[in-house]
Amino acid sequence: MFTKRHIISTREFSKEEIDYVLSRAEELEIYARGEEQGEGRKSDLLKGKILANLFYEPSTRTRFSFETAMKRLGGGVINLSSTEASSVAKGENLADTIRTVSGYCDVIVLRHPQEGASRMAASFSSVPIINAGDGAGQHPTQTLLDLYTIKREGLLDGLKIALIGDLKYGRTVHSLAYALSLYGATLFFVSPGALRMPDEIKLDLKEAGAEVIESTDIKEIVKEVNVLYITRIQKERFPDPAEYRKVAGTYRITPGLIEENEDVIIMHPLPKVDEIDVEVDGTKNARYFKQAFYGVPVRMAILSILLGKEEIGNAR
Ligand code: NCD
Repeated sequence: MFTKRHIISTREFSKEEIDYVLSRAEELEIYARGEEQGEGRKSDLLKGKILANLFYEPSTRTRFSFETAMKRLGGGVINLSSTEASSVAKGENLADTIRTVSGYCDVIVLRHPQEGASRMAASFSSVPIINAGDGAGQHPTQTLLDLYTIKREGLLDGLKIALIGDLKYGRTVHSLAYALSLYGATLFFVSPGALRMPDEIKLDLKEAGAEVIESTDIKEIVKEVNVLYITRIQKERFPDPAEYRKVAGTYRITPGLIEENEDVIIMHPLPKVDEIDVEVDGTKNARYFKQAFYGVPVRMAILSILLGKEEIGNAR
């Protein structure tokens, strides 16, 4: 469907393409579990293919789930996990690294602190680039797994969702908001005044016909929504640490808040710091660890589509 394409932003996806990824992920979920885990199965769909993980910023879930997705489908992975241990430390620029690494692999997953880095990298790459986060820009594959989680809850149609926390620097919420506008979701943006969703994104969403309601108070909207999608305040993106301290700890999901809406689903791209009370982890409302697992089938779907291997392969 979109073989050999770069994946830079959710703005470049149609609803049909997203639906296709989600339905492929559903077919592949049984392979994501691996042979030893209950119903899990084995596949060599991506045998002989190599993925390069280039992470210039920390990551646990994104890097590991891409690696697991590739390996569970029989492919191989090469890693640049520390810029100190590579030629980046010698001063090599991103363009030269990409030109070189794209000769060693079939797909590159790139995380970089600079907004626009993935788009720039794509112009130097002979293989597809997947943007795994470019500064405060976008994180499109996180959005696909977020949508998959929402779909598995049966909530994608007529969804009412609150995006909470750092809407200014949070790349996951930028990507997610664009994609949700394709599904006619009602979007509640809850943030401190200094961390509001950027105006240009709000404008784009309104142009796309999305219903957007802004608020500073979670209590006000918790009864109105199906999903609370809370994010970490992106400490590393603040030019001034004093500004971070002013907004740190503004929002917290507590068991008391959930009592206001017993059916509400709590999502978080993770890592979480202190924005969710640990007592919430064990409630029927928490979905964030399941959401993190869904990164595997969704990334399996993306990789198999990009690499042109859409049949299930030698499964057993
Ligand atoms: C997020 C990221 O890196 O943008 N994490 C992730 O990929 N699951 C969110 C964050 O760092 O807060």
